[in-house]
Formats: sequence, structure tokens, C-alpha cells
Amino acid sequence: MNLEDGLATAVAIAREAGQLLLDGFSQQKNIERKSSAVDWVTQYDKAAEELIFSRLRAEYPNHGFIGEEGTDDAGTAGYTWYVDPLDGTNNFAHGFPIFCVSIALYEGEKPLLGVLFDPTRGELFTAVSHQGAFLTKNDGSKQQLHVSTETELVSSLLATGFPYDRQTSDDNNVRQVAAFLRAAQGIRRPGSAALDMAYVAAGRLDGYWEFKLYCWDMAAARLIAEEAGGKVTFTDGSPVEMVRKMSLVVSNGRIHDQMLTILKSC
Ligand code: IPD
Ligand code: CA
Ligand code: CA
Repeated sequence: MNLEDGLATAVAIAREAGQLLLDGFSQQKNIERKSSAVDWVTQYDKAAEELIFSRLRAEYPNHGFIGEEGTDDAGTAGYTWYVDPLDGTNNFAHGFPIFCVSIALYEGEKPLLGVLFDPTRGELFTAVSHQGAFLTKNDGSKQQLHVSTETELVSSLLATGFPYDRQTSDDNNVRQVAAFLRAAQGIRRPGSAALDMAYVAAGRLDGYWEFKLYCWDMAAARLIAEEAGGKVTFTDGSPVEMVRKMSLVVSNGRIHDQMLTILKSC
């Protein structure tokens, strides 16, 4: 597997899918409910997933493909592409301009490359294993990403999100938000888990946590955060494994234990 070619392919596809979403952003959305009344999907989620996998399959016919909107194909090559065609669907559906395309390639448990494209801001976040994480803007400028140097939770800006079963499950992050509200400098809920993690990579946020994420939400952004010097673990502090559903803490590393302590206290 040539990672340079893989990255170029993933970037071109993410940009193409990003344009599809941007074109759809101002159009009428057909909304369907999935796992709950607040778990929405639009025709643009589905169209972007179809586009991304048709391009990836043409290039890598033996690879595995896992996508949020139903794609689940193990493949035979030991490589798996994890795709969230539109992370931030609720934002997108309401016209709130924070969403992205997420594409990652893994070899078993090993992340090889991750690409996130935010079409509204024209920001492309990329990482290749052991080669650092980068932000490329639409004007062509490219900068290496580094996590923040903040060491105190009380001075940290955090982000989080809430699971789609939040209306029916008590395990819905409400206790934890209350605890972090007292312990941190500020909390944001931007609405795209992948961008939240990329913002930790970029030093725009110091930390992020969320319960019941899916593998396609975090596959690319997790590598981007790690390659920027960040730390990513499950919420109990154990190392990340590519299970379908998981709960994560992503931080600059320096405040990681303080975040885990708060979560443990809840
Ligand atoms: C969701 C977003 C949201 C997060 C949810 C995700 P979707 O993804 O990332 O910020 O809180 O856990 O499921 O449904 O917009 O792809
Ligand atoms: Ca998602
Ligand atoms: Ca999605």
C-alpha cells in the first residue's frame, strides 16, 4: 500500500464529497429518522457516502469499507476504509455551518492515514502515520498542527457531544457536562465530533470527550490528534481499539489525567 497515493486519493475524494455537501447545504433537505427522533439523515449523507465508496472501490477493490450510512464490507486485503460522509448532520440539516467529510484508512488496528474536509471553511486536515498532522487551507497554505501547551484544566477550553439516545438513556453525558462546567474554563458543543478532535490537534481546543461514538466518527480525527502530539484514550484511560462503538477522551496530553479524574468522579 503506497500511503502517498492513498492520501492523494482520499484528499481528492473528500474534496469532491465536500463540494457535494456544500452544494446541498442551501437546498431543501429530505430528513429521515434513524435510531431516535433526534438521529437524522438527509439525502446528502447518502449521496456523499455513495460517491466516496464508489471512488474508493474503483481504486482499491479488495479493501474493506465501513461507512455510517450502511456500507459494511470486510474485503480481503487487510485494509479498511472508515468513512463518515457527513459528520455534523444535525448542523447541516439546520443550516448551521459546522460539518465535515471524514475518511480514514487502517491496517487492522493500525491507523495509516486520516483526512477531514470542512467545506464551509475550506479547511483540510490530514495525517499519515509517523508523518505529522497538517492543515491545508483553500488558499493553498499548509501548516503543521501541534496541540496546545495548556497544563491546567481550569484554563482549558473543552468540547463534547451528546449521544442520539440522550432522551431515553441516563448515560447521556449530563452529569459529566455539569462536572466539567465547574472544572474547566469553557465548554463548547460544536456538533461535529471529527472536527472537535481536529480542533484539539490544531490547539483551538485543549480537550474533548464524548460517549457512544462510532468508529467512523473518530477514525480519521484520532490519527490527526495523535500526529499533532495529542493523546487519545477510551474514557476509562485504556488504549483505543477499533470497536464499532466507543467513548473517548482526546486531549493535548497535558490535561488528560485531569479529564480522566473528572470522568471517574461522575
Ligand atoms: C454526530 C456528530 C456529533 C456527535 C454525535 C455524532 P453525525 O455525527 O459528530 O457532534 O455528538 O455523537 O454521532 O450523526 O452528524 O454523523
Ligand atoms: Ca458522525
Ligand atoms: Ca454522519
